[in-house]
Amino acid sequence: MKKTSNSIIFIWIAACISFVVIVSNSSCYYDKEEILYPQTACDTVTVTYSGSVVPVLLSNCTSCHGGSAPSGGISLTTYAAVKAQADNGKLWGSVSHTAGFSPMPKNASKLTTCSLAKIKKWIDAGAPNN
Ligand code: HEC
Repeated sequence: MKKTSNSIIFIWIAACISFVVIVSNSSCYYDKEEILYPQTACDTVTVTYSGSVVPVLLSNCTSCHGGSAPSGGISLTTYAAVKAQADNGKLWGSVSHTAGFSPMPKNASKLTTCSLAKIKKWIDAGAPNN
């Protein structure tokens, strides 16, 4: 009888320890910020050229609009060049797929609603170099 209750206690302790180990290990997974807080919010409050527009251009545009022979003769690697496309209306016309403009990014899906919102806000603010 005594022996049985001892082993039951031992099993309980072992079970508790394994439970703690399993939970603390799996917390590596649940601690991931993008899983706990999926990126549903789009920050269009603090929109800047360097912080909001450039990252979008780098991941979607400069593979074609960069280098020594940029597509369409349009380089999007310097502020001055991007500002010129913003001011002549082609930047917004192309990314928003407005009729009369060549839809960009070429042969790829339209930019995300969030990226478009940031670009729009930056252009509407006068396309500042910030
Ligand atoms: C796969 C290559 C490629 C990618 C990626 C690409 N472009 Fe283009 N882009 C072109 C080509 C080629 C042209 C010349 C016009 C044409 O052929 O449609 C062009 C033209 C343009 C024009 C002029 C449009 C007009 O109607 O005159 C703008 C502005 C532009 N691109 C902006 C962008 C932006 C912003 C991105 C990223 C969101 C982008 N492009 C991504 C290849 C690309």
